[in-house]
Amino acid sequence: MTDKHIELGKLLYEGKAKQVYAAPNQDLVIIRYKDDATAFNGEKKGQIEDKGIINNKLSASFFRLLESSGVPTHFVTRINDRDQLCRNIKIIPLEVIVRNVAAGSLVKRTGQAEGTELPEPMVELTYKDDAQGDPLVTKEEALARGAAKPEDIDHICKMALQVNSILCPFLLKRKLKLIDFKLEFGHTDEGQIVLADEISPDTCRFWDADTNEKLDKDRFRRDMGGVKEAYIEVWERVGDYHVTSAE
Ligand code: TMP
Ligand code: ASP
Repeated sequence: MTDKHIELGKLLYEGKAKQVYAAPNQDLVIIRYKDDATAFNGEKKGQIEDKGIINNKLSASFFRLLESSGVPTHFVTRINDRDQLCRNIKIIPLEVIVRNVAAGSLVKRTGQAEGTELPEPMVELTYKDDAQGDPLVTKEEALARGAAKPEDIDHICKMALQVNSILCPFLLKRKLKLIDFKLEFGHTDEGQIVLADEISPDTCRFWDADTNEKLDKDRFRRDMGGVKEAYIEVWERVGDYHVTSAE
């Protein structure tokens, strides 16, 4: 793709995997995807070569797919290899996790075998607070913590399930099982709730549909090797989705 020329403003925020810069227009920001990888609330740190480039492209594809399926997102356009232009939103301090198959912290909590199909997609909320390790919260606790209004919590949980029902068949056609994923949402200045953050192997568990091979950040979390190769494999299967792309 030809790089678009959009001037990077000042650094507004630096997270574990991304930086947020001011854009020439105050309604927009530039999000830069880094190669830095962390796990276990930042305890484990590393770099995955070219992760930022792959996740920028993958996230852009997923956001375009979701927008074209009626899910509003913060995504505007990909500017270059590492940067995307997004709407400047106010993040709701909740992480919305959707699970189709038991893995990760659910397995730790319930003792279920990894890979157990759940009877129906399950939604969990965690409160975004690194100091507390993003604790799991009920809707009532999220309300008590002042994270969002009750109708907004209901709305983002519904949107998360809608995202799940769009991504699952799309990925399965590309021989990927969507095990679970984490989403974040924000409010625009006009008060609309949009999907934000990223959708990538950092924030989703993807398993090969035939072999159940892990193709996501669990390879980094568990020192399994082949991390970059797994991210590339997901990118090769998903590709640069545009509305005109073959379904
Ligand atoms: P978990 O099983 O560790 O709770 O993770 C569930 C999903 O959420 C998994 O796809 C990884 C993703 N996730 C993040 O994107 N960020 C996080 O900080 C955590 C803990 C999980
Ligand atoms: N991204 C989170 C962290 O560093 C956790 C994870 O994805 O496992 O801390």
